[in-house]
Amino acid sequence: MSHKITLSTQDNQHFEFYCEDQQNVQDAAEMAHLYPPFGCKSGSCGACLGTCETGDYQLESYSKDVLSADAAAKGGILLCRTIPDTDLHITLPYDSGSIQHTLNKPRDAEIISIDKIAERTLSVVLQLQDDPEVGLAFEFEPGQFVELEIPGLNLMRAYSLANTANWEGRLEFLIRLQPNGQFSEFLQTNSIGQHILVHAPSGAFVLNKQSLNPRCFIAGGTGISPFLSILRRMAEWAEDHPTHLFLGVNNEAEILCQEELVSLQQSLPQLTVEICVWKPEDNWQGFTGTPADAFKAYLQKKGSAIDVYLCGPPMLVEASTNVALEAGVDKQRIYSERFVSA
Ligand code: FES
Repeated sequence: MSHKITLSTQDNQHFEFYCEDQQNVQDAAEMAHLYPPFGCKSGSCGACLGTCETGDYQLESYSKDVLSADAAAKGGILLCRTIPDTDLHITLPYDSGSIQHTLNKPRDAEIISIDKIAERTLSVVLQLQDDPEVGLAFEFEPGQFVELEIPGLNLMRAYSLANTANWEGRLEFLIRLQPNGQFSEFLQTNSIGQHILVHAPSGAFVLNKQSLNPRCFIAGGTGISPFLSILRRMAEWAEDHPTHLFLGVNNEAEILCQEELVSLQQSLPQLTVEICVWKPEDNWQGFTGTPADAFKAYLQKKGSAIDVYLCGPPMLVEASTNVALEAGVDKQRIYSERFVSA
């Protein structure tokens, strides 16, 4: 028996297709040539989050880091783990433009630089190889991520792009080294000249350009990557807009991209930056605490008519979301991207 699935996007577009018995919604969508943003397809990255408005379903096992019990109780689902029991109506937290209709084949890229930019954090630059159909170009929206695959190792990880789309085929990533992480291990033992496969850009963590509200960007560590991409694009296009960036790190040695942020502030005079150090040394002059703490203080002073963008570990995203909701920020104005250690 098959069930009718309706996906509704934020711009009020609707996509219908059928899901077979025991098939998950993501696979069924892809069979209908619809590719909503996805990553791991195993319930661990959170890229395929949605909300089920009507209908019954089962959720296969997934990481509670990407979908909390509370969110699941309110209809939160992961398309890749949702098995319908009835017809379903699902709303998605992005516009229809984020749903692709074809899936591009992965591109070959060479690692051209790896630099340590802060404690346990690398800046990695890839050079795409010329493609007979599209040349060097690689289109993506600031805020999106790609999956990087190490050929032969069956290893894939999703990382946000930190630079902006360019004709030279350069892709830049900020990668936090994880103890015993397979990808971290690869980057530390392999170097310049190695090849990696780059999958098509995905994700809906992009700016809502229609909104005139001031923006708050809240980043935990390398969660600054999509914001760097967004800010660089704003600077390239001289789109100055009231924007406050909170960057959270554990200690001063983990502070990253400080010089670049200062230079972005010169191009974007309405950009303010607040670095939040959780456990600083005695002589730290800046904010002590988490970005969620600093955000709470900001809301008390500035009010809740803002757009909030969150990227970082699930605990930070959850804490900051709660702070925003308690202060009265419109739920529709909170956009988030979580990442999990790998
Ligand atoms: S694609 Fe569904 S959780 Fe990763």
